[in-house]
Amino acid sequence: MSRQTARVREVGPRDGLQMVSSILSTEHKLEWCRAAAKAGIEEIEVTSFVPPSLIPQFADAREVALGAVAMGGFRAAALVPNLKGAERAIAAGLPVVNYVLSASEAHNLANVRRSSDESLKGFGDIVALRDAAPGAKTILGGCVATAFGCTIQGDVPERRVIEIAGRYAEMGADEIVIADTVGYAAPLQVRRIMSAVVKEVFPLPVACHFHDTRGLGLANVTAAVEAGVRAFDASIGGLGGCPFAPGASGNIDTEDTVFLLEQLGLATGVDIEALVALRARVAEWLPGENLGGAIARAGLPKTFRSNAAHD
Ligand code: COA
Ligand code: ZN
Repeated sequence: MSRQTARVREVGPRDGLQMVSSILSTEHKLEWCRAAAKAGIEEIEVTSFVPPSLIPQFADAREVALGAVAMGGFRAAALVPNLKGAERAIAAGLPVVNYVLSASEAHNLANVRRSSDESLKGFGDIVALRDAAPGAKTILGGCVATAFGCTIQGDVPERRVIEIAGRYAEMGADEIVIADTVGYAAPLQVRRIMSAVVKEVFPLPVACHFHDTRGLGLANVTAAVEAGVRAFDASIGGLGGCPFAPGASGNIDTEDTVFLLEQLGLATGVDIEALVALRARVAEWLPGENLGGAIARAGLPKTFRSNAAHD
């Protein structure tokens, strides 16, 4: 019997670079994508279409997007916070565009300077833009940030997270991403919220985006798998964090996430050793950044039987 599968989406060139102190060159960003794709990663969030004055790291968003699309071999995605970002991303020919709003009103205001209802309305404009655009239909992801709590506001109502996911689905999203922007999530909460979201938006695919700020990142992946989630964002070496959420820190490590999913019996098609090699190169490109990663430190166990499908 063939194994069930899970997808790990590399978000390092986007989330991973939001808070690093140096600006990575366009060539290195594309090299990151090339190596991740070669390791078997099928989807990569390659950049973010935000004002360069706000996050200078993404001043080359268009060049990265065009380079990634031309490279092929993986699905290139970008994050967008508004219609202007979506226009730029769709014009660059990206097959996947992820829109972000926060379930925490306070974080939404800090991050994108409007209420979450205004942001939801903005998603409608992006769906209309997508539907009117010529060529292949862009896949639209609807991301709910700060879904498990917020460093500015504290509690975030669970019913609001489920409501936003449902509204995204009604409005035309192709996929829902539930994000723990600040690393507040815990396994029981993840199982409860993700079960409800998966049910609410069925049959749309649902992904989770965890940060490992308090060491529960991989425990939360296990809980989300139990709730039926089969797609996870992660960043090489656990880089990452939102510059507009106080106290935010890195994503879950791509290498460790692949390892966990394989150990849970889910086939990822990803070569962990190739990811570890990429991590070493990323560490050289970003001197002074603190990269995490248990597998990179300790190596794969001799008992690990990788059924990674890629060759
Ligand atoms: N890309 C490039 N430029 C953009 C843009 C985008 N996506 N959105 C707006 N701009 C430009 C406008 O054209 C305008 O330029 P001008 O001054 O030359 O006319 C300027 O930025 C201000 O536009 P405005 O619509 O008033 O935006 P704002 O200042 O209210 O900021 C957001 C709103 C959404 C653009 C901003 O808060 C943002 O980018 N947030 C995302 C933060 C983020 O990336 N967080 C981490 C990921 S969770
Ligand atoms: Zn994030």
